[in-house]
Order: sequence, then C-alpha cells, then structure tokens
Amino acid sequence: MNKIPTSRPAVTEEMIEAMSDALRNERMVLGESVFKFEDEFARFIGTDYAISVSSGTDALILSLLALNVRGKEVVTTPLSFIATANAIVHAGATPVFADSSPQDYNLDPREIRVGKDTAAVMPVHLFGYPSQMDEIREAAGEKVKIIEDACQAHGATYRGRKVGAIGDVGCFSFYPTKNMTVGGDGGMVTTNDKRLADDIRKLRDCGRTSRYIHDVFGFTSRLNTANAAVGRVQLRHLNDWNERRRGIARRYSERLKDVEEVRLPPMGGRDITPVFHLFVVQTDDRDELAKHLLANGIETGVHYPVPIHLQPVYRDAFGFSQGSYPESERQSGRLLSLPIFPAMTDEDVDRVCDSIIEHYGGKE
Ligand SMILES: Cc1ncc(COP(=O)(O)O)c(C=O)c1O
Repeated sequence: MNKIPTSRPAVTEEMIEAMSDALRNERMVLGESVFKFEDEFARFIGTDYAISVSSGTDALILSLLALNVRGKEVVTTPLSFIATANAIVHAGATPVFADSSPQDYNLDPREIRVGKDTAAVMPVHLFGYPSQMDEIREAAGEKVKIIEDACQAHGATYRGRKVGAIGDVGCFSFYPTKNMTVGGDGGMVTTNDKRLADDIRKLRDCGRTSRYIHDVFGFTSRLNTANAAVGRVQLRHLNDWNERRRGIARRYSERLKDVEEVRLPPMGGRDITPVFHLFVVQTDDRDELAKHLLANGIETGVHYPVPIHLQPVYRDAFGFSQGSYPESERQSGRLLSLPIFPAMTDEDVDRVCDSIIEHYGGKE
C-alpha cells in the first residue's frame, strides 16, 4: 500500500534547468531572475510592487518595520503559524490577539478592538481561505494599517481581488509545503505604496542606499537568484495547481458530505475563491481519526494543535492562559488537515474518504 503524504512539493526538470541556468549565468544575489520574478509576481497579484525576501517571516517583519510599528500594538489571530505573531515581536511591537471565527477559522472581525496604541491589524488567510477583509477594514478604521499574512493563500481572491492586494501590504511565503515554492525558503511583499516598497527593498539589503552607504539598520534578507529562477517557473503553474486543489476539495466535500461526525471547511462562493493550501476538517475525535488514517498509510497534519497564545514563549512573555481565546482553543483540539497537493489523484482522495467513512462505521 503506497503512502499518501499530507503535501508534496513539485520538483520538475524545468525547475532544475532554470536553477542551473541562473547559477551558471547570473549573479548569485540580486541577479536578473530576482527582478523578473518580482515583476511577474506583482502582475499576478495585481499590485504595483513586489519585493522578494528570504522567507515569509521576513516579509512580515520588514513590512511591520517599514510601517513603523515599534512600541505600538498589532492585532492578529491566535490560530496561525507562530511566525505570524513572532514577526510582531521582532518588529518591536506587542501582539494583541483577537479570537478566530467559528465560520472560517480566520480572525473574527467582531473580536477586533482598536485602541490608541493600535498601529496595525494583521489578518491571516488561513489554509488558503480569504479573511473577511471589508469587515476587518471597517473594524480597524481608516488610520490603522492592514498587513495581510497571505503566506498560505497565493492566488486566492476576495470580491474580485487577489489577497495580498487588498490591505496596505501583503506577505507571502515560499516554504516548500506552500501552494508555490522557490525550491527552498523564500518570501515576497506586495504593495501599491512606493514609499513602503522602497523602504522594504532597502531593509532587505543591509539598509543600503547605494553600494557603501547605509541609512537604516538593515538585514541580509534577500531571495537568492537561483531560488527566484525556480519561483518564476512555479508561478507559471500556480493557476492550474490551485484549480486542481479546488477540484480535490470538491471531491472531498462531495464524498464526505453525509458523514455527520465530520465538519467540512467552507468552500467559498461568489465573493471568495479559496486556494486550499490545506483541506481542514473538524471532528470530536481528531486524534483517533488521525491514528486510523495513518494505519491505512494516510498522513495527516494538525494546524495548529496549540494556539499561539498558549505556546510556552507567549505564556511566559505575556501571561496568557487557557480560556483567553476560547474559539481558537476549541478549534485547535478539533482540526485535522487531510492530504492535498496538485499531484494527488482522484483515487488517492477516494482512499482517504473510504478510510474516514470506515472509521465512522461505514455511513456515507
Ligand atoms: C500563516 C503563515 N505566516 C507566516 C509563515 C512564515 O513563513 P516562512 O516559513 O516562509 O518564514 C507561514 C509559513 O511558514 C505561515 O503559514
């Protein structure tokens, strides 16, 4: 019985050739492929600027620094990868959590509290499902900046616009499990604000204004040229890959719709086109189901078993405790990520569904 992994990044001859070509013919750092990838990514998302960086985390940190949040508060969700909140701390601000929504797992706009120290709100388009951006903008008000953590949502759309082009800044990760990768770590910032784009470009390159002159405390946070060359190839496939992910999600939903014990994720609609970075279901017996699937050669994941505020480092630094954000705590105990990746076959999806149906006693 072959194993079905939770995710599998594509590695093709085209990617390998693009990478070796860049290594042979371009500067290893800030070579031509970097600028071409940025232009193509900006066009894809629909922003004036895209600035590549060395990870999604750095995309968030440099965006926050460019928005000058030091000493202020930034509101985000406790149900995300820990890097979301870490970026706020690294930028010298205080993370303020607002609970997740029971509807879509994203930051619940009704939970957002804006005070005199709030500099920004950072929604996460978790699992590739766009956050309620209009409601979030309304809750944040016009003065507070919005940073989209789009690290899991390359190509998802909200009311006709790609995520990453809706707030003041969008941040993407190219970590290998994401909907597109650069063959290693990498990230991108998208924005229509020229001043921000220039500042982030400077921050990623040691704070340089020219070769030997530096006027801010910068970082070494560039995307390597060889990785940008891989990113250009991946970007050309992204729409097809996202379409395939949606097809897999539809098949899961259709096959599992009558399994009472399993709550399916939202599928989007007229205003929302998700990209199913993950296909996440909810059940009361998450750990037992995961064990049953593994015994049948099916790997699953949990995103995330511990909400950020309950991680030891956040409990210690900020004094959070159980009960602070009940909805995200409840979801953390119930969420299970089923396998989803573009190369997954319909037969693989059926095998996962058969195994889930068998676990719940054969009812479909
Ligand atoms: C929601 C979210 N934010 C931030 C990150 C950080 O990205 P990276 O791993 O590229 O630093 C990730 C992914 O790892 C993520 O899923």
